[in-house]
Amino acid sequence: MQKLSALTAPMALSNGVTIPGLGYGTYQTPNEETKKAVLEALSVGYRHIDTAAVYGNEQGVGDALKESDIAREDIFVTSKLWNTERGYDATKAAFAKTIATLGVDYLDLYLIHWPANTKQFGAKAAELNAETWRAMEDLYNEGKIRAIGVSNFMPHHLDELMKTAVIKPMVDQIEVHPGWPQAEAVRYNQAHDILVEAWAPLGEASALSNETIAAIATKHGKTAAQVCLRWGIQQGVLPLPKSTHQERMAQNTDIFDFELTDAEMTQISALENLGGQCMVPDEVDF
Ligand SMILES: NC(=O)c1ccc[n+]([C@@H]2O[C@H](COP(=O)([O-])OP(=O)(O)OC[C@H]3O[C@@H](n4cnc5c(N)ncnc54)[C@H](OP(=O)(O)O)[C@@H]3O)[C@@H](O)[C@H]2O)c1
Repeated sequence: MQKLSALTAPMALSNGVTIPGLGYGTYQTPNEETKKAVLEALSVGYRHIDTAAVYGNEQGVGDALKESDIAREDIFVTSKLWNTERGYDATKAAFAKTIATLGVDYLDLYLIHWPANTKQFGAKAAELNAETWRAMEDLYNEGKIRAIGVSNFMPHHLDELMKTAVIKPMVDQIEVHPGWPQAEAVRYNQAHDILVEAWAPLGEASALSNETIAAIATKHGKTAAQVCLRWGIQQGVLPLPKSTHQERMAQNTDIFDFELTDAEMTQISALENLGGQCMVPDEVDF
C-alpha cells in the first residue's frame, strides 16, 4: 500500500486544506470517454481529478463520481472558470453551471483558467481579473469551494491581483515540464505559499523521447514519464498527468519509490526546446 498512500499523501494549501499530491488530468478526453477514464484512474489510486468547463467533460467526471463507491469527500475535484465568463456576475453564474454539470454541491478547488491580458483587454485587464477574483472570494466565503486559485498567472499578474485581493490564491496551475521549467514562476509562487500545479507535466508526451531523460530513466529502472513526474515532485510541484490508457495511468503513479540526484535534477532543468505548448499567457488571444 506504500504506493497508494504516497499517491494520496496530502500536500497542504495555505488555508489548511489538503490536496492529494498527484492529480489526474482530463484535457482532450472526450466527454463520452471521460466517465470510464476517471473510474479507471480512481481504481489505480488517483484521488484528485482535474477538469475545466472548457474541456466539455465535467459531466463525464460527474458521472464517474456518482458511479464510484469512493465517498465524494475522499476525491479532490478541481474545475476552472473559462475566459468568456470573466467578471463578477459571469463568474458566479459559470460556477453554478459547473457544479450543476458535475452534479456536486461543492468544489474542492476552482481556478481562474487564464488571466485577462493587456494584449486583449488593454488597461482593463487588471480590473477584469480583480472582479473575477472578487467573485471567487465570495464563493469561497459562502462555503461553496474549499480552495480558490488561478492558472497561467505569471508573477506580475499575481502582483497586480494582490493589490485588491482579500484572499491570496492558494494554487497556481501553470505549464511546467522538462524544457519549460518556468523556474521564476515556481520560485515566486513557492515564496508566496502558493502551491504550483504542473499542467502538461510530460510536455504532452514530447519530453518522453528526449535522450537525457531516457538515460536517467534507464539508470533508475523507470520510464521517461516517471522521471518527468518525479522531477516535478522533487521541486514541490504537483503534477497532473493525463492518460486514457490504464497501464500508463498506473505507471504515472509509480513515482514515489525512487529519487533523482541533485545532478540529475539540474541536468533535466537545463534541457531546452523539448516541445509541449510553451505558452506565454500575455501573448494568448483566447
Ligand atoms: N490550466 C491549463 O491551462 C491547462 C492546460 C493544459 C492542460 N491542463 C491540465 O493538465 C493535464 C495534463 O496536461 P496534458 O494532458 O496537456 O499533457 P500531459 O499530461 O503532459 O501529456 C499527456 C499525453 O501523454 C501521453 N502519456 C501519458 N502518460 C504516458 C506514459 N506513461 N507513457 C507514454 N505516454 C504517456 C498521453 O497519451 P494517452 O492519453 O494516449 O495515454 C497524452 O498524449 C490536462 O489533462 C489538464 O487536466 C491544464
